[in-house]
Amino acid sequence: MVAVARSPRRQPAQAELPAFAQDVVEGLSGTPKRIPAKYFYDAAGSHLFERITELPEYYPTRCEMEILRAQGGEIAKLIPDGAALVEFGSGSNKKVRLLLEAAPQVAVYVPVDISGEMLAQEAAALRADFPKLKVTPVVADFCYPFDLPAEAKAAPARVGFFPGSTIGNFEPHEAASFMRHAGRMLGANARLIVGVDLIKPAEVLNAAYNDAAGVTADFNLNLLTRMNRELSGNFRRDCFEHHAFYNRERHRIEMHLASLKRQKVKVAGETIDFRAGETIHTENSYKYSVGKLNALARGVGWLPAGNWTDARGYFSMQAFTLAEPARPRPAL
Ligand code: SAH
Ligand code: AVI
Repeated sequence: MVAVARSPRRQPAQAELPAFAQDVVEGLSGTPKRIPAKYFYDAAGSHLFERITELPEYYPTRCEMEILRAQGGEIAKLIPDGAALVEFGSGSNKKVRLLLEAAPQVAVYVPVDISGEMLAQEAAALRADFPKLKVTPVVADFCYPFDLPAEAKAAPARVGFFPGSTIGNFEPHEAASFMRHAGRMLGANARLIVGVDLIKPAEVLNAAYNDAAGVTADFNLNLLTRMNRELSGNFRRDCFEHHAFYNRERHRIEMHLASLKRQKVKVAGETIDFRAGETIHTENSYKYSVGKLNALARGVGWLPAGNWTDARGYFSMQAFTLAEPARPRPAL
């Protein structure tokens, strides 16, 4: 797997300065200030994300569920008998339930998530609802190498499942690295099913990340609360504001936390200066076209094997099969 941050190329060990502290100090010391989006997902952040998925403005979850309901049977045909399904960033497991219903041939399910609380809870619920399925959760940061459980390694094939447009939270070159390394981890005969949000009118996109109820703002601001709790910070939520907008040139929603005044904040033992209006860039959410994701995948050895969109063409699920590794040419 790939390190997509500027941190060591492995899961951080328990004993060293937590990766969160390192990434926050590094990210807030640079210009522009930034914090990786993966830190949104503490227990409160995971619950806020679930609330986002139910907002009237946040269409991606409903669109992807529509695709899985309508096309789950077709998508399931790509999954070999006895396969292990590995979901990257499994969250509430809502979508995989639809896929598992359409694909009873899946023998092992490996939900992978950075948010341990939700992972354990959801795995227990899934075991109760799919008693024949082996559920082997892995708490890991999927930006770094991690071991698959023995049951998944022993399966005749492994299928990656990466729904939710979480791939859009990577820079495009990181998305390509992620897919290359996912291929290596999943191994021979692998497939990959990716859900991605498509480019669409800016009004629709801006509304989805600026909901009227302010849940996305809470999700963004929760990062300050998390830094206060886990890194002895003294951020004041009322001194920062949620900013989200569509960057048309780069086909991405950007989320920021904007400082409402000039201020000094302590976090992880450092003092950080903010100018009035200065922002912490907390998330990018890239929007793709079907062709662009296919091209990105081809570039790292995945062959397009199908794509499905919802009725409005807002969201796309795309399947890929791993190209055979090039064989050395026989000597003449
Ligand atoms: N797949 C679900 C959830 C998407 S939200 C859906 O489609 O609705 C993104 C999920 O990815 C969250 O559950 C979050 O905890 C997880 N996540 C984000 N970055 C991660 C990382 N680097 N490693 C592992 N999990 C991550
Ligand atoms: C998880 N990820 C794909 C979501 C997105 O749309 O980029 C996270 C999110 N950020 C704000 N709203 C939802």
